[in-house]
Amino acid sequence: MSKDIVQIFDTTLRDGEQVPGCKLDKEEKLIIAERLDDLGVDIIEAGFPISSPGDYKAVFEIAKIVKNATVCGLTRAVKKDIEVAAEALKPAKRPRIHTGIGTSDSHILHKFNSNKEAIIERAVNAVSYAKTFVEDVEFYAEDAGRTDNEFLARVCEAAIKAGATVLNIPDTTGYCLPEEYGAKMKYLKENVTGIHKATLSCHCHNDLGLATANSIAGVINGARQIECTINGIGERAGNTSLEEVVMILRQHPYLGIDTNINSKLLYDTSQMVSDKMGMLVQPNKAIVGANAFAHSSGIHQDGVIKNRETYEIMDPADVGVNASSIVLTARSGRAALAYRAKNVGYELTKTQLDIVYQEFLKYADRQKEIVDSDIHEIIESSNIKIESIS
Ligand code: KIV
Ligand code: ZN
Repeated sequence: MSKDIVQIFDTTLRDGEQVPGCKLDKEEKLIIAERLDDLGVDIIEAGFPISSPGDYKAVFEIAKIVKNATVCGLTRAVKKDIEVAAEALKPAKRPRIHTGIGTSDSHILHKFNSNKEAIIERAVNAVSYAKTFVEDVEFYAEDAGRTDNEFLARVCEAAIKAGATVLNIPDTTGYCLPEEYGAKMKYLKENVTGIHKATLSCHCHNDLGLATANSIAGVINGARQIECTINGIGERAGNTSLEEVVMILRQHPYLGIDTNINSKLLYDTSQMVSDKMGMLVQPNKAIVGANAFAHSSGIHQDGVIKNRETYEIMDPADVGVNASSIVLTARSGRAALAYRAKNVGYELTKTQLDIVYQEFLKYADRQKEIVDSDIHEIIESSNIKIESIS
């Protein structure tokens, strides 16, 4: 069965870089953009060109070097923003302008002191103006998550008529439940005239830890683009994590939906972004965290040593991690100790293992983790004669 492809729109260099303390210089942005292109992302949101001369220059240089992906620049629904973005995107093989405006009651009233009709007019003017520079124009309805569906459908319809090729439905505040966000996509699919002319896009923030679930719900209900970042970095609690949505779709082939991502580069890309941004990846982060393929309890270790699939739904090699790891702690059992001892050169008989295990527990109660050098020491202090097999 041929699969539907969901476009991966990476916004690590725009929404991701908004994280306090994660500012990148131009060279770092270029290195990350090249890597994102190799990773297979379909669209790279390179920055917000009007926001600063540095961001303008970075978008311009990224537009020059990216070979495969579409390069996108963010704007507000403001003429000058659109002109500056168009200029910055000039060297791109495939340029996209991403323009939009807030559509929720809260944004219309408090941000714009405006009304619904005027917002639609501004949306249409922005898309039409962007269209005079590039063919590919994405429209975002900021705070779509809290915008009532009927009005959202009117805005989307007007944006499509003005020429929008992609409709971004951001859950800007990370408020929606997956069912609600999925239903929003379904509503737009069923109620927006001309919807077949545009791609619906999910852009979910993680304030309630639901960004990934919401993006997947959006895709199940008809969206064909996901906006996400490496390691899920972004404003406040972050954006949808790229590695999570990619692997969810790959691990659930019956959905019939996949991406163009080379998943074997995920771990390395995660490390690269973490390193350049100086932002550590939490150890329990799905897919790319240090503990994502580490097993430390005796029951799990015994299972994984017998057959990896007892406690792992993914092959670590598929995301670029060398191997699953068996971590030795005071919760580990004999199977794990025998396995790790063998890896460092000792084949233990059952009797020897019983003795060494008692010694191991004394060490393990004193320290958080037992490393390879400790294993040699433990075996020596067990006072038994063991031939090293190495
Ligand atoms: O979260 C959001 O609404 C955004 C838009 C500017 C696309 O980042
Ligand atoms: Zn955002």
